[in-house]
Amino acid sequence: MIRTWRLDDSRQTLVLGTRRGSLAEVIYWGARLPDDEDIDALYPAHAIDVTGGMLDRNPSLSICPEAARTFPGQPGLVIHHADGAPMLPKFRFRTAEQDEGRLVLTFRDTTGMLTYTATFSIDGHARVIEAHARLECAEPMRLHWLAAPVLPAPQLSDEVIDFSGRWCGEFRMNRTPWSPGIRCRENRTGRTGHEHFPGLIIPGRGTTNTQGDAWAFHYGWSGGHKMLAEELPDGRRQIQFGHAAGTETQVQTTFETAPLYVVFSDDGISGCAAAFQRCLRDRIVTWPKPEAPRPVHYNCWEAVYFDHNLPDLKDIATRAAALGAERFVLDDGWFRGRDDDASALGDWVIDSRKHPGGLMPLITHVRGLGMSFGLWFEPEMATPDSDLLRARPDWALGDADQTLGRGQMTLDMAREDVRAHLYDRIAAILSENAIDYIKWDHNRVLPVPDAAQTRGSYALIDRLRAAFPHVEIESCASGGGRIDFGILSRAHRVWLSDSNDALERLRIQHNAAIFLPGAVTGSHVGPRKSHTSGRMSDIRFRAWVAAQRHMGFEMDPRELTDEEAQALTGVTAWWKANRNWMCRADILRLDSPDANIIAEQQLAEDGGRFVVFAGQAGTLRQIAPRPLRLTRLCLGAMYRIDLVNRGDVSRLSRGRPLLKTGAATLSGQYLMNHGLILPWAFPETMWVVEGTRL
Ligand code: DGJ
Repeated sequence: MIRTWRLDDSRQTLVLGTRRGSLAEVIYWGARLPDDEDIDALYPAHAIDVTGGMLDRNPSLSICPEAARTFPGQPGLVIHHADGAPMLPKFRFRTAEQDEGRLVLTFRDTTGMLTYTATFSIDGHARVIEAHARLECAEPMRLHWLAAPVLPAPQLSDEVIDFSGRWCGEFRMNRTPWSPGIRCRENRTGRTGHEHFPGLIIPGRGTTNTQGDAWAFHYGWSGGHKMLAEELPDGRRQIQFGHAAGTETQVQTTFETAPLYVVFSDDGISGCAAAFQRCLRDRIVTWPKPEAPRPVHYNCWEAVYFDHNLPDLKDIATRAAALGAERFVLDDGWFRGRDDDASALGDWVIDSRKHPGGLMPLITHVRGLGMSFGLWFEPEMATPDSDLLRARPDWALGDADQTLGRGQMTLDMAREDVRAHLYDRIAAILSENAIDYIKWDHNRVLPVPDAAQTRGSYALIDRLRAAFPHVEIESCASGGGRIDFGILSRAHRVWLSDSNDALERLRIQHNAAIFLPGAVTGSHVGPRKSHTSGRMSDIRFRAWVAAQRHMGFEMDPRELTDEEAQALTGVTAWWKANRNWMCRADILRLDSPDANIIAEQQLAEDGGRFVVFAGQAGTLRQIAPRPLRLTRLCLGAMYRIDLVNRGDVSRLSRGRPLLKTGAATLSGQYLMNHGLILPWAFPETMWVVEGTRL
C-alpha cells in the first residue's frame, strides 16, 4: 500500500510517500505541482532503475536513511544502547496527522524500543518549510547522530554553496562541485561560530542571484552543526543536517534535532533570501514592540574600550544623540576590576571607580538626550582571575589545564546553580537600572562541544526574557560567532561582525542577507581608520554601508570633522525617514555584471518602492560601469527613479548619464532587462538609487 502527503505554498510543493509501511521519503521537492497531480503516482514515478552491481531493489533515500536496510550512504541515525552496543533500527509506519500546513509522521522500530517522529510545517507567508525530528527510546540510550528529516538534492545542479568565515570575515561563500561521495561540514566549536555558518544553497544549473532554481537550508541551532551533501553511487543525492555528532553526551530517553528551515525558489538565490528574511523577521524573532521603529544605535566600544569615565561617556553620548543616535550601548568595561580583557569577567557588579553612584548618572544623562540604554554582558564566561571562579572553580566547563580563549573559561550552563547565579546577577542589574537592551557576547569556543551547554544558555535567556519582556537582546560572539535562527528566536539583533571596515562589511552583509533581514542585522559607522583592518574610509561610504541594515555608530564622535558630522547626520536622517519600510523590505541580491560592484535592491513589501545600493568595492576591469539590472519589478509598470547621493559624484565623472542629471521615469521591463547606468565612481563609493512605482 502506498501512502502519500503533500505540503504546498504558492511556489513550492513537498511530497512524502511510503510503501508497505516503510519509513517515509521525500519523493518530490520543487516547483509547485498542479492541484490535481496524482501524488500516489509519484511514488513509482520517482523510483530509479536497477542494473548489474546493484542490490535487487534500491534502498530508499528516506527521511532517516536506515543502515539496517543496506543504505549505500550515510545513515540518518547512529544510536547505541547505554552499554555501548550498537542499535540498527528498522522503522515501520505508525501514524500520520495532517492539518493546515502541518504534517506529523510517526514510525516505530521493529523491536518496539524506538519511536521516530518527523514534523513538517509550511509557512505560506514566508514560503519556508520547517522540518524537525524527534526520537523517543524505551530506555536510556546513547546518541551519536540524528539528522533532521533528510531531503533529496536536485540532480541538475553542478555545485553546492556553503559558508565559512573567521573573526572580522564572516559569511564567505564556498562553491564545491558535486562529485561522488560527501561534502561534509562539521562545527565542533560548541557555538554557531564564524567558521561554519549552518547554511547551504544548492543552485540549479545556471542559477544566479535573480534567476533559476535554488534549494536552500538553514539549521537553527547555536551549538555547532554537521551537514552532509552526499552523492550516492547510484547518483541520488541527499542533504543531512543535525547537531554536531556526539554532542549529546548523556544517555537519555528523548533526543530531538533543531528545526531545519528549507526553501525552494524558482527566482534565484534572492528568492531563498527573501523567504528566510521573512521567516526570521515575521515568525521567529519575538519583538517586544513590533511596531516601534528600530532605533539608531551608538555603541561606545571602539571609542573608549575599557577606559570608562563619566564625563567622557556623557560627552560622547551628547554628540552621538546630536548625530541622530537613539540608543546608547555601554560595552565591556563597566564592572568591577575590568580594566582589560584578562580579568574580572564573571563579576557582574558595577565598578564604583569608573561609575561612582552606579550606572544611573550615565543612564539619566542618556535618557535625558532622548536615547534608551543598553548594557554589555558575557554571561556564559569568566576569567580565572575573577571572584567568581576563585569561589567556584568547579563551575568552569572543561579541564583546569585547558587552553584559554581570550583569557577566559566557559561556565557550565548545564548546571542549574550556575544559571540561577547568572540570572540573579543580571536580573539585579536590570531591575535596579533603566536598561532596555542587552548586548550578549560569547567570546570563545567551548573546551568540548556539548548540546547541554546550548540548552542551558537558551534556558537562561528564556528566563530573563520572561522576567524582562521589554528588554531586547543582541547576539554577539566576537562579532558574528553566534548567528542562527535558534538564538534569534530569543534575540532581536545580531552583531554581524567586529569589522567596522565598510568595505569588508559591504561583502559580509551582502552574503549574510541570504539568511538575515535588515531589521536584525546590526551595522555601525566605524572610525575613520578601521581598528581591525587599518583601512581609511570616507565617511559617506561608511555611513551608506551602515544605512543598508540596522544602522548605528561606533566611532568616537569626537574624531569627526564638521563636514563628516554633517554627512553622517544627513545619511542618518535619510535612514530614519526610510527605516520603517526598509526594515520590512526583501533584500534582493542583484546580478552585477561588474565583479567589483556589490549590489542589492531592497523592495518594499507591497512592491511600491525600492532602493538600490550599489557599492563599488574596487576599480572596474573596463573603464565605464556596465548597466545594473534590477529584479522583481512589474514589467508593465512605470517607476520614477532618482539618485539619492548625486552630490557624491566625483569630478572624474565627466559625462551625463541620466541618473547624474536628474530623476527619470522608466518601465519595470526596461529596468530589469537593460538596467541602470550608474555614474563613474572611485572605489569605495556607494550609489543609492530610490525607485517609486507610479
Ligand atoms: C567582542 C565584541 O564583538 C565587541 O563588539 C565587544 O563587545 C567586545 N567583545 C567587548 O569585550
